[in-house]
Amino acid sequence: MQIRIIKNETELACAAADIFEETITNKPNAILGLATGASPVLTYKELIRRYEAGLISFKDVITFNLDEYCDLPRDDKNSYFTFMQENLFKKININPENVHIEDGNAENFDAEAKAYDDKIAAAGYVDLQLLGIGTNGHIGFNEPADTFTEGTFRIRLSESTIRANSRYFTDSKMPEYALTMGVGSIMKAKKILLIATGEAKAEAIYNTVKGPVTPHCPASILQTHPDAVLLLDEAAAERL
Ligand code: PGA
Repeated sequence: MQIRIIKNETELACAAADIFEETITNKPNAILGLATGASPVLTYKELIRRYEAGLISFKDVITFNLDEYCDLPRDDKNSYFTFMQENLFKKININPENVHIEDGNAENFDAEAKAYDDKIAAAGYVDLQLLGIGTNGHIGFNEPADTFTEGTFRIRLSESTIRANSRYFTDSKMPEYALTMGVGSIMKAKKILLIATGEAKAEAIYNTVKGPVTPHCPASILQTHPDAVLLLDEAAAERL
């Protein structure tokens, strides 16, 4: 695991965007695994800036998002579909046909999960997977558990995740279920980039880096990935 501690969030976003730029420059039809939440927002802003400056093109890039809430309309302001449109896709030259996000309103969640995994496999697996981390060490929506998860599946969100994300659901009830790539799916990515900022993440980062590899801190599995990079600000790294 490579750990880089970066002073401010703007520089951290630039460092993350550098890794995206390198991936897309080397492989214009790269498969990107994308994340939602607060952590990637500045990185997406920097990618949009580089696209507008003509430094990168997303014309042939293919994307797979980590997760999506279940039973939330796709165009709800809190859906991850909407998040991705607003924070990235509407502002770059990506082909909408190359964008993949789990269908949280599928009639059959197991079939949707299996179809999602099949699409990732058929594309040749993710070249660069972006991750945030939950305060409980979750990656995607893989909550602490007794075993590591494998492929995409439907999960009941933990109390701590519901507490953390309820802040966005000001006028509606936050869904309790989501579809998420499993830890096994995430680990198949050729390169993984995890971003964490702020002291609320310090304990999860400590457990990820210094703790045992355990499904009770799902991100700790990254210790066993051959090419995982952690970009941290000083607050998130304060316990290392
Ligand atoms: P955040 O969420 O980026 O909004 O802090 C990260 C996560 O829960 O994975």
